[in-house]
Amino acid sequence: MTQIDLQTVKDMQKRILELKKVKNAYIIAHNYQLPEIQDVADYVGDSLGMALEAKKTDYPIVVVCGVHFMAETAAILLPDRKVLIPDPNAGCSLADSITAEQLKEWKSKHPDAVVVSYVNTTAEVKSLSDYCCTSSNAVKVVQSIPEDKEILFLPDMYLGMYVKEVTKRENIHIWPGECHVHAKVKPSDIVKAIKENPDADFLVHPECGCTTSCMYMREKQKIDLHILSTGGMVKHIKESDKKKFIVATEIGIIYRLKKETKGEGKEIRPLREDMICEYMKMITIDKLLRTLEEEIYEVKVPPEIAERARLAVERMLQIV
Ligand code: 13P
Ligand code: SF4
Repeated sequence: MTQIDLQTVKDMQKRILELKKVKNAYIIAHNYQLPEIQDVADYVGDSLGMALEAKKTDYPIVVVCGVHFMAETAAILLPDRKVLIPDPNAGCSLADSITAEQLKEWKSKHPDAVVVSYVNTTAEVKSLSDYCCTSSNAVKVVQSIPEDKEILFLPDMYLGMYVKEVTKRENIHIWPGECHVHAKVKPSDIVKAIKENPDADFLVHPECGCTTSCMYMREKQKIDLHILSTGGMVKHIKESDKKKFIVATEIGIIYRLKKETKGEGKEIRPLREDMICEYMKMITIDKLLRTLEEEIYEVKVPPEIAERARLAVERMLQIV
């Protein structure tokens, strides 16, 4: 969007709040969304929280401020509702890293394996999966599967390696996908930050390229390092007595974290200022207003795909 002045943003927010009431619409936003979007949302959270919230709502219109797979997940759970996204082109590099065709081929090589798909996948990939998971319950989902069962874990290799390390399972095959925002975090970024901030807590999203090295460093050096989903980060900072936090995930979360801990004197900083997801940032306040005014863009999942994908998504929602 071209730069919109503060007053225009406020006017748009006011109109959005009015339209929400008139249309009986509910806005669900991800933690990475722009501050002005977070401020008008009815719910802000991580992928798991968004899906759980979608399932709970009885509103006829649900607007998902996040990337496309998040709106698809809501549409899978709410087939009788109008699920809207302010920009249908808001994709996800990680979800794009495996297609349904590629998964079919992978499955054909491991016909007895259980397929665990990260929620950052298309509806079609979900429909070919046994379980979905998010960063907040991936370990629990894998632990719920009998130990002798082979697992195909996709598409994030860093989350997959983390899950493999925690569960100590050898029979997990991991798809080599990655998120372009998180993959750029190197172990050296963390090493440098630890040296410069010995008094800080380090919060690392499991999609980061440094995740397994972080686990090793935590073990060796006994540093306060926590591998968490974005929702887990919010909870951790709210509950912690520490005063300084370095956060390794998309920088949109910094606004949420500061808002949640306002007045507590906590210093919260991103590990890298360049962790920006351009897809998340495609959801702007003017597009959100237009979505509510015109009831565009509806996200629809073909019923036969939605039906199969729902089984995997519902399993994910039961393991929280
Ligand atoms: P969370 O579920 O932890 O919010 O992660 C979603 C995501 O897209 C991370 O890049
Ligand atoms: Fe996808 Fe990465 Fe953006 Fe998350 S940060 S939505 S995984 S591209």
